[in-house]
Amino acid sequence: MTTLENRPIPVSAAQPLDASPALAFPPGFVWGAATASYQIEGAHDEDGRTPSIWDTFSRTDGRVFDGHTGDVADDHYHRYVEDVALMKRLGLASYRFSVAWPRITPAVTADALGPVNPAGLAFYDRLVDELLGAGISPAATLYHWDLPQALEDAGGWTDRRTAERFGEYAAVVAQHLGDRLATIITLNEPWCSAYLGYASGVHAPGRQEPAAALAAVHHLNLAHGLAVSAVREHAPSAQVAITLNLAWVRPQDPADVNDVDAARRVDGLQNRVFLDPVLHGRYPSDVLADTASVTDWSFVHDGDLQIVHQPLDALGLNYYSPTVVRAWDGTGERDQSDGHGASAASPWVGSDDLEFPAPVGPVTDMGWPIEADGLRQLLLRLHREAPGLPLHVTENGAAYPDVLTEDGAVHDVERIAYLHQDFDALHQAITEGVDVRGYYLWSLLDNFEWSYGYSKRFGIVHVDYQTQRRTLKDSAHWYADVIRRNGLVGGS
Ligand code: FCB
Repeated sequence: MTTLENRPIPVSAAQPLDASPALAFPPGFVWGAATASYQIEGAHDEDGRTPSIWDTFSRTDGRVFDGHTGDVADDHYHRYVEDVALMKRLGLASYRFSVAWPRITPAVTADALGPVNPAGLAFYDRLVDELLGAGISPAATLYHWDLPQALEDAGGWTDRRTAERFGEYAAVVAQHLGDRLATIITLNEPWCSAYLGYASGVHAPGRQEPAAALAAVHHLNLAHGLAVSAVREHAPSAQVAITLNLAWVRPQDPADVNDVDAARRVDGLQNRVFLDPVLHGRYPSDVLADTASVTDWSFVHDGDLQIVHQPLDALGLNYYSPTVVRAWDGTGERDQSDGHGASAASPWVGSDDLEFPAPVGPVTDMGWPIEADGLRQLLLRLHREAPGLPLHVTENGAAYPDVLTEDGAVHDVERIAYLHQDFDALHQAITEGVDVRGYYLWSLLDNFEWSYGYSKRFGIVHVDYQTQRRTLKDSAHWYADVIRRNGLVGGS
């Protein structure tokens, strides 16, 4: 049962609402929160949904912490009304969720999209209407990693037909929901889908094939382009965007040419291999050269880059932590603290000589270092690189080992401190002229954190997985206060 009692926490409640915020955000700034289908919905086999690669992966021994699966998750599929009520209570202006492809066209194969499943679409219909009724603007991501298993069986993202089917699926969603969606985000973090899915294998489908990962990079880019065309055709009023998890990458020793080159390679594989085709219609030549021993990139066909490179209405940035890299000299055990999970296989395709030193400063429960300035730096970079393109922070937040007290509170002061720093950095970027329109906190609810299962809590709302009871953490009250003021009061 959702907890809707009015527990007075607000960290800055001592300040009257009309106190002028020390950090005032631009009028109309969109404050939101984000989730993703497999991480919260549950109802894994209801209303015609067929398995995704995460259903298969989570059922494979040793892949996910303690054998956790998304079978039930937050049971949001049945509790979306209560969850939207929580969002309304927090004052969210927008909610970013993702659509589960296996609900929409459950019989898709590599060669045909198959029939549309009305019951699957109906869930999102209800959700979108509930949001609109609550005055919350819906932002839908078309792909947040739950690829239909049948497509993976035919090659997954290594096969260009997956991109073609994705374009068709995007058209279906756009046709049915597009007139009510403020924003449609094509892909979430294709870096993770490609390299964690197909190179290091810590994410579904768990393959460790470097060449396949690069084919996946291209087919994801192509899928994005095909989806942009489909959305433009069928939902002309929706804003179209893509969400990238860009690395704020620095060489450990800026005076060491090898470390500097290591940072260039990470920038190429994580940032430019997506930014360059999407924003400029080309692949970076240094990345092609660095990976020449892995693949000849012949999966890039004539005309593909024109499809990938299309005008966008916004760009989404997910930011959690910085990346520090150095060149590995080949001796001793290689430190791989890149924050992307433990695997014998590296996600850094074609660059096996990279080393990621263990962080020195404070870290979150994920072991991810905390450096808010990375958010500002990445926003500035995007602003320079794509002047005129509005930006959204589509994910940002932190996991901490929260404790639910006996009187039903979660005093997550560390999460509040983390968010405060990042809001500061965000505000600074805006002050420096970056056109950031919105911010989506990850996450609204504690949820299935991929290979970590339910062991990591990112929510500002605590979920008791036994009872499905929702409890607002202190950070939720604090965030509601930020939203009400459209800014932060001094010292809050
Ligand atoms: C991002 C994912 C999101 C969530 C956060 C913590 O990489 O997009 O689903 O797992 O990390």
